[in-house]
Amino acid sequence: MNTIKVDTASAYEVKVGKKLLNTLGEEVAAVTKRGTAVIVSDSNVFPLYGNMAQKSLEDGGFTVFSFVFPAGESSKNGTTYLALLNFLASKQVTRSDCLIALGGGVVGDLTGFAAATYLRGIAYIQVPTTLLAAVDSSVGGKTAIDLDAGKNLAGAFYQPRLVLCDTDTLTSLPQDIFIDGCAEVIKYGILYDAELFAHLKQHALEFDREAVITRCVSLKRDVVMADEFDRGERMKLNLGHTIGHAVEAVSNFTVSHGKAVAIGMAIIARSAARNGLCSKETSDEIIALLEAFGLPYNTAETAGTLLCAALSDKKRAGGTVNLIITKAIGDCDICPTPVNELESVIEAGL
Ligand code: GLY
Repeated sequence: MNTIKVDTASAYEVKVGKKLLNTLGEEVAAVTKRGTAVIVSDSNVFPLYGNMAQKSLEDGGFTVFSFVFPAGESSKNGTTYLALLNFLASKQVTRSDCLIALGGGVVGDLTGFAAATYLRGIAYIQVPTTLLAAVDSSVGGKTAIDLDAGKNLAGAFYQPRLVLCDTDTLTSLPQDIFIDGCAEVIKYGILYDAELFAHLKQHALEFDREAVITRCVSLKRDVVMADEFDRGERMKLNLGHTIGHAVEAVSNFTVSHGKAVAIGMAIIARSAARNGLCSKETSDEIIALLEAFGLPYNTAETAGTLLCAALSDKKRAGGTVNLIITKAIGDCDICPTPVNELESVIEAGL
């Protein structure tokens, strides 16, 4: 097992390893009072791991309740959020109790936001069961639900008390969902780590799960500790996301997050190469790695369509969008880009 300490204002540990779900009860007892623990999960994950999580928590001395909602991004909304808050109130959950987010990004974001706001804040533990959640959304305290106008528009920065990543849970992931998470893994290589990029190039989908997740979490930890509230360095974690979110939105969310981010990273790389900001070799290497993982790197959408969707993204600041531009593998810059130049940046990358 590897442990990564995240020293934000409220510090916590991320534990990555095999068979950790069996230790959930004792791990949670080490960071909270033994009281009520509410497992929040979805209809895909709870049937697989709900019983194991419940037993471990009960063995650890907790009274356990479960709140399970239909799997999918469409559940990450105000209705599910309020239903969860009402459930917590009906079970008389108090400030000394805790929530356990057992699942992927949707479960983690929703549970974190409920934890941030129920009784003005109670403890929560992230137990990511997807690669995407393990390397990204479970770490760093970004919590949110979607509004009709867009993704993650209501949320809070609220750090978990512990992140427990049992790599065995990733083995039950459908290949497609696993590949989706690989886009975020590749992102860390492009942003910060040429060695990680080379490891992924060498091993493709057979990469060393525990080592790579630990490396990604360590990189994210460094970013979050330098910029907990997303005002500077943390924005780099949005590499490929501005255009990726546009691809997702335009497809009516039929293109998944990871695949959309892969397309976004490819467009940014090609655009940077065509504008002389990175070499063609760098751009080609990125596209080749995405291809090796079975991730998409093209879209049939036009630059104009993507621009319209990108402009509703919350990361826009007035007349400027902070684009993350690849300079080389392991080296990217934040480039404030005037909105009126965005279409030509996208066009150059199509
Ligand atoms: N998922 C990007 C971040 O945590 O900042």
